Amino acid sequence: MYWTVDKNKDNLHKCSEIKEAALWIKQGEVIAFPTETVYGLGGNAMMDEAIEKIFTAKGRPSDNPLIVHVASKEQVRMLVLEIPALAEKLMDAFWPGPLTIVLPSNNSVSQRVTANLPTVAVRIPDHPVAKALLEEANVPVAAPSANVSGKPSPTTAQHVKHDLNGKIKGIVDGGKTGVGVESTVIDCTEAIPVILRPGGITKEQLEHVAGPVKVDPALEQEGNTPRSPGVKYTHYAPNAEMYLVAEYPQRLQMVVDTYRQEGKRVGVLTTEEAVSNYEADLILPSGFREDLETVASQLYATLRQFDEHEIDIILAETFPKQGVGEAIMNRLEKAAGKKVLL
Ligand code: TXA
Ligand code: MG
Repeated sequence: MYWTVDKNKDNLHKCSEIKEAALWIKQGEVIAFPTETVYGLGGNAMMDEAIEKIFTAKGRPSDNPLIVHVASKEQVRMLVLEIPALAEKLMDAFWPGPLTIVLPSNNSVSQRVTANLPTVAVRIPDHPVAKALLEEANVPVAAPSANVSGKPSPTTAQHVKHDLNGKIKGIVDGGKTGVGVESTVIDCTEAIPVILRPGGITKEQLEHVAGPVKVDPALEQEGNTPRSPGVKYTHYAPNAEMYLVAEYPQRLQMVVDTYRQEGKRVGVLTTEEAVSNYEADLILPSGFREDLETVASQLYATLRQFDEHEIDIILAETFPKQGVGEAIMNRLEKAAGKKVLL
């Protein structure tokens, strides 16, 4: 099934497309839908068989837990042992929005959602379609990004269709998502919260509200086991081999030339400001360097575009690890399998 909905329409939860999609979710089918970050593949978090379908469709390793999406804080209370004061502060400041909070689980959701962890990750998304769907379904909805495991996350319904057509019950097309990178995952089960995955809400924003926040050391140093199981897997990877080049444009152009002499089709991932600096087989800008939010917003669509043009090697500029640049670099490093040319 494919439903197109206008996210700006009033009373979205009353429209038949949303009602139909919500009913399928309630009954245990899986449906892709837009959030403000990326498209999610949603299933009823209380039903083992719905969660099973999500893992199968994505080809996702079963030890990687899912984020539970809810419509209200009251729904969160039904899934957790407690909401620590600091977590409540973060909810009030950033929900609805791209922040996922890990809390002690009371084991109401399917064990498959949490991959048997004693914790559950929850968020209220900030997208009218997602909100209407969650309200109408009136069950907690587990939803990973709606891509095949390992590929860049989908920021349009077309990306979802490309990856999952025939493998899921339906897609709600609500247009392009906004933030473009996934939510920040923060563990609030200890006195000082720990960022497990950088994302749409920055460390600076979190600290402004909650005081000091730690970052899972595994994000910065090899050899530590990440506390967020998903972080250890290869992710966001286009088909082409990818390298990050810290020195651009001159050095990056030199690497382009070398690969092209070897007969490779070479793509450059840059920003609008710098497109004219390069000569390559395909030069794609992802937003404006001047405004890193635009880079984040277009990053996954740009990575997918290189695949469409059968590029062999992608050389990407790097970004400052500040603000949303932290999430951008986290995703680029994963897409490149940490291959950085200095
Ligand atoms: O923006 C997003 O977060 C999107 C949209 C659809 O909401 N969802 C998303 O889900 O990115 P997914 O499954 O692709 O990533 C979920 C991340 C993984 O790294 C997973 O390991 C982590 O959240 N996670 C989920 N539950 C956890 C838990 N109980 N403890 C630690 N990490 C958890
Ligand atoms: Mg994902």
